[in-house]
Amino acid sequence: MKRAVLVILILISMGLVLSAVGCEEAKESKEPSKKSQPKAEKSVPKEPEPKEEPAEEAQKPSGPPTLADTEGYKQWLKFNREPIEGRTHGLTDIYVNQDRDVIAPHGILKFPFPDGTIIVKEILSSDLISIMRKVKGADPAHNDWEWIEYDAEESVIGKDASCWGCHEQAKAMDYVFTDLEKSE
Ligand code: HEC
Repeated sequence: MKRAVLVILILISMGLVLSAVGCEEAKESKEPSKKSQPKAEKSVPKEPEPKEEPAEEAQKPSGPPTLADTEGYKQWLKFNREPIEGRTHGLTDIYVNQDRDVIAPHGILKFPFPDGTIIVKEILSSDLISIMRKVKGADPAHNDWEWIEYDAEESVIGKDASCWGCHEQAKAMDYVFTDLEKSE
């Protein structure tokens, strides 16, 4: 009987030892799995992509007006019904790229002319084209008009001071000598 009890005790203690070892093993096998789990990286909020700036609108056309800027001018509003016997160059036609209602509400020219106005003086006898173009900021001292005169080959005949020096006489009319003839 005593023996049997002893054997049981031994078995029990062995069982305890074994289970203790098992626990250790289990612990060990758990730990590496903890370590090997890389910490989830904090998601750093991405910097917003820089928005593309809209190309700055060209404030000023580069350089003086060209003949291309006056393309189709013969379809524009004409100041005169019959060619003018001009004071400087003989027979002349004068055109403007604006509507009559805009530059002459109630039939009377309104000064100053709006930004973007182009006035073409076509000198019929010599194929010369004189151009005035208003560009905001181009020349505040002369009401922002740009001045140039071309021959048929687009060679520059005159510009700037050689023009406004004389047109200053018409300063009260925004440097424009010619009046708009009434529509029929
Ligand atoms: C000596 C004076 C004088 C000079 C210099 C002169 N102009 Fe004129 N311009 C006139 C007169 C006067 C008119 C009115 C139409 C006419 O009599 O031929 C005129 C008319 C014009 C017109 C039509 C609008 C308006 O004012 O009636 C334009 C555009 C023009 N000139 C551009 C020029 C340009 C560009 C130059 C320089 C290259 C120039 N002018 C130089 C006297 C001048």
